[in-house]
Amino acid sequence: MGRQERCSLASDLASSGIFDRSMLMISRSYRSEKGNEMRISLLLLAVGVCVIPTGVKTQDHTITAVATVKQLCEGMITASSDAIFNVGRDVPSNDEEWLAVHNSALMLAESGNLLMIGGRARDAAEWMEMSHELVDAGVAAVKAVEARDIDGLLGAGDQIVVVCEKCHEPYRDGGHSMPIR
Ligand code: HEC
Repeated sequence: MGRQERCSLASDLASSGIFDRSMLMISRSYRSEKGNEMRISLLLLAVGVCVIPTGVKTQDHTITAVATVKQLCEGMITASSDAIFNVGRDVPSNDEEWLAVHNSALMLAESGNLLMIGGRARDAAEWMEMSHELVDAGVAAVKAVEARDIDGLLGAGDQIVVVCEKCHEPYRDGGHSMPIR
């Protein structure tokens, strides 16, 4: 909780009367030992919490992009989409293999989110739309894996290829070097 929030909480409590009452209780218990002086300093302390300016540096929670778009595409997106494209040739035959395809589908879907954040987006319109489409295609793959639906998974694979090409066309190289797998 930041200092500002604590202050507004304190003033909320004060206006609701709860804060005043609890302060009185605290001060009363001190008064019996040290008298009025202690009560005054406690009240000043409470006021002090609110009037000190926000000199304490608030923590920076902005996203730190680590991989470039090219690195994301090569390292994460290609590997995870390959795992889905390969299902037609190499049908998963046990839980472990299904789990691997599931992880790849999740990674692919999330990589669409990564394309949208950390300053990677090339614009605020088409790029975002296509990245969303990659998330959607990844989610279709995730659902097909969960249903162990090979046809559904191949359909998701087709959807994924279209998204890759759709984005490479304007933003990379006209889409011509997209390797056909
Ligand atoms: C939202 C846009 C977008 C989507 C979706 C996208 N890519 Fe990319 N991809 C790019 C851009 C832009 C580059 C070029 C990056 C650079 O060179 O800075 C790139 C580069 C690549 C590269 C590196 C090739 C090279 O020589 O530059 C590969 C491989 C790649 N993408 C594969 C894929 C695959 C596979 C998919 C789909 C599963 C995909 N990408 C989806 C935007 C996208």
